Amino acid sequence: MKLLILNGPNINMLGIRESAVYGAEDYVALCQFIKATALELGVETEIKQSNCEGELVTFIQEAYGEVDGIVINPAAYTHYSIALLDALKSVKIPAIEVHLSNIHAREDFRHKSVTAAACKGQICGLGFDGYALAMRALVDMNRQLVFKPPQ
Ligand code: DQA
Repeated sequence: MKLLILNGPNINMLGIRESAVYGAEDYVALCQFIKATALELGVETEIKQSNCEGELVTFIQEAYGEVDGIVINPAAYTHYSIALLDALKSVKIPAIEVHLSNIHAREDFRHKSVTAAACKGQICGLGFDGYALAMRALVDMNRQLVFKPPQ
């Protein structure tokens, strides 16, 4: 099983940006955490980050037929990117949206997610753990599909 972990704009600035909101650990630490989780779950992962909407769309399109699940933190694009929504809908790969911070406890404009409609679920406010929980949920979904008993 292979998972794509996709991070949007400014997630590469973790550790530098607003540490009161996002914590002191940097993007390298997040990638290490994801790799350790993947090892524990026995899955392959590819981790990608981009500050450009179109590049994120391309990453999602390239995942078609290649990965079994997507964990996506679309960052600011969460709140307005119809292009990312459409890309997620196009590939029909099970996806889970993750946010490090609790977007519902922040400014009003962060309460709405445009992209979550194309996802199986959304996890927010749990920091790095959100990524691990999302990965685990995708593994569970995939196993149920694979081992689903005949009706
Ligand atoms: C974020 C929340 C977004 O509102 C924000 O624009 C980000 C990060 C999070 O992980 O908490 O860049 O997606």
